This record gives sequence, structure tokens and C-alpha cells, in this order.
Amino acid sequence: MSPVTPQQRRYLDAMGIDVWVRRDQVLPEAAAVAQAESASIESALAPEPAVPLEAPGEGLPDVSELDWDGLRQRVAGCRLCELHQSRTQTVFGVGDQQARWLIVGEAPGVDEDRQGEPFVGRAGKLLNAMLQAVGLSREQVYIANILKCRPPNNRDPRPEEAACCFPYLRRQIELIQPDLIIAVGRIAAQRLLDCNTPLNRLRGSVQQLESTATPVIVTYHPAYLLRSPADKRKAWEDLLFARSLTTGE
Ligand code: URA
Repeated sequence: MSPVTPQQRRYLDAMGIDVWVRRDQVLPEAAAVAQAESASIESALAPEPAVPLEAPGEGLPDVSELDWDGLRQRVAGCRLCELHQSRTQTVFGVGDQQARWLIVGEAPGVDEDRQGEPFVGRAGKLLNAMLQAVGLSREQVYIANILKCRPPNNRDPRPEEAACCFPYLRRQIELIQPDLIIAVGRIAAQRLLDCNTPLNRLRGSVQQLESTATPVIVTYHPAYLLRSPADKRKAWEDLLFARSLTTGE
């Protein structure tokens, strides 16, 4: 691998990944920035609960003909499951509607429910750093979740909730037509791939979304990485692998 630039090192530090550098090559100001950035990201982050595999349901909404505006409106008014009663607002998704990468997480948390945007809380800050570590800004990708509404008290999503919501995400995938999907965390991966396979067996190879044949790369959820920082390096490697598929680097 080519030597890590000071900027890359800052992002890797922000993710908590140690990079070996000769002491006489460390720029004092780069080290100070990295330390401050890393500290602020780490302090902003907190674990989020894991959720079980969702089972597909019946009576799903047909949104297959909707454009972006129509889909957004349909999601905003959705009352298909009981989560509409406790949400502040739906969390549709954000980013470049022609992005090459679609990031799919699990469900909005308290910050996302308040702001109406996915991954704006503590885990989101780490997700941003992870993307930056492979040269991507948040604005260059599209970010969405399996669920558009926050489960109260961050409880696990129920199978019927995920089943009701999945057509919205599938339509987003059809509209974006990304080169690949990054599934962050076990729940997103298993729901997208409709399987029970453990996350560690899904990582490291190219999976495929059945309905659109979109390649899927599976990696750790940023909230998990906060609890298990030793795995941040593996997450970085997953994203490098993903990048190699889309850029050939
Ligand atoms: N965790 C997720 O999976 N999605 C979010 O939007 C925020 C936290």
C-alpha cells in the first residue's frame, strides 16, 4: 500500500486506526489536528443496540412507479406500522441522488428522528470519518436506513416494521442505481441480502442484492466500532475493498 498522506492519516486517526509513522516524519500541526478530531469524534459516539433479522411480510406498499418527490411524500405520510405514532418525523435519506455508493444503515436514532436526516448523531460522525478515510465526502454518497422511523427508545425493529418499510428503500435503490451498496452492520446486511449469515462471513467478498443485482459490501456498523475500536481497521479495509471495485485502485 502506498504511504499514508498526512490528510489520510488524520482521517484514519479520527477513526481510531493506528498508522505506523517514523517519529521524525510527523508534522506537529497534523498530529495536533488529528488528536483533536479523534477526541471530538470519540467523545460524541455511543453504542447503539443490535436488532434481530427481519422477516419479509405481506401487504407491502407498491411504490415502484414513484419518482423522488412522490416517494418522499409517501414516506412522510406513511402509517403502515405503529412507528408513525412515536416518530417526530420520517428519516427519508440524504445525499447525491446519482451517487455511486449507497450506504444503508439500520434505523434512525434519537438525533436522526429530531433532525430528519440519517446518521447525524454520534455514529454518523464516525461514518463521515470512515468515508473520508477512503476519499469520499458525505455529500458524494447517498445514505439511508432499513427503517425510515425511529423505534421508540431505540428498541429493536420488529419484523413487520422492516417489511413495511423495505419497498421504500428498494425504490430508492432503483432510482439511484448505485454502483454498489455498503451495508453497515448485521441488520442492514441480513435484511438487504435476506439471509441469516453472520456479519463476519458476509464481509470480505462481494454480495449481491437479488432484486437489482447491485453489488453489496458488508462492513461493521459505526456504533459497533465505537464499542470495538480494534475492528476499525477491518472496516477501513472493507471500504478500501469497496473502493477498489468502483475505481480499480
Ligand atoms: N444508526 C443507524 O443505523 N442509522 C442512523 O441513521 C443512525 C444510527
